[in-house]
Amino acid sequence: MLLRDKVIIVTGATSGIGEATALEAARQGAKVVLAGRREEKGEALAERIRGEGGKALFVRTDVSVPADIEALVARTLQAFERLDGAFNNAGIPGPLGSLADLPLDEYRKLMTVNLDSVLLCMQHQIRAMRKSGGGAIVNCASILGMVGAQTFGAYSTAKHALVGLTKAAALDYAAEGIRVNAVLPGPVETEIWSHVNQGDAVFAAFTSGVPMNRYARPEEIGRPVVFLLSDWSSYVTGTSLAIDGGYMIR
Ligand SMILES: NC(=O)c1ccc[n+]([C@@H]2O[C@H](COP(=O)([O-])OP(=O)(O)OC[C@H]3O[C@@H](n4cnc5c(N)ncnc54)[C@H](O)[C@@H]3O)[C@@H](O)[C@H]2O)c1
Repeated sequence: MLLRDKVIIVTGATSGIGEATALEAARQGAKVVLAGRREEKGEALAERIRGEGGKALFVRTDVSVPADIEALVARTLQAFERLDGAFNNAGIPGPLGSLADLPLDEYRKLMTVNLDSVLLCMQHQIRAMRKSGGGAIVNCASILGMVGAQTFGAYSTAKHALVGLTKAAALDYAAEGIRVNAVLPGPVETEIWSHVNQGDAVFAAFTSGVPMNRYARPEEIGRPVVFLLSDWSSYVTGTSLAIDGGYMIR
């Protein structure tokens, strides 16, 4: 069990990569705090984990609301008395289109959810982890945090910045035993694609760009995240792990 008795927060836990990671973490012995906006889905996932013999708590959290993030970490400490790890995963796809036409309010909304929220999450998580004697944070970036893709300008900007934020935090807290890494998923079969018509050129471009010739299943991201949250990666910090079926080799 890679995460035996570790207390782990997962944001955006009610679907997709977050849900799969929460399940994998619980199966590896973690006490999982599920953060998300959809109460019914979150409670159902907590129940499922408890049904499998794991420990889970759902905390209703909108990561675009700073007070919710503070309350999430406070509730975690109240319930489990420590914090060992966090997967900052909540994210939205953002508007597609050329940058010249990008409305400022949509750009700001994307930055609030995909970037600013991770800074706020890390601030509270790091304070808690210092008291627990260290910890591991994993931020969910994207292959679009390393390379660009036409029409994904705003999303790609946020994910590139998230890679920078991850490196900055890793440097600041390495000596205190807090590791901070990012994962860079390639295309994964989740709800995030529901706004993109699967007949669109953008969808086809991602599919044909993956040497493994398929999208990932959410658990194929979740398992490497569990590794980065665990002591098996105890000398890994500041890295951005591509989990992309070979997309970035080209
Ligand atoms: N699916 C992909 O192809 C892919 C590729 C690279 C990176 N990612 C990243 O993976 C992460 C998870 O996405 P996913 O693919 O599982 O899609 P998803 O839509 O299933 O998951 C995103 C989750 O974040 C939640 N969320 C969004 N805004 C929130 C808010 N304000 N507060 C709380 N929760 C909020 C959503 O409700 C959802 O549960 C995202 O950060 C996304 O950018 C996804």
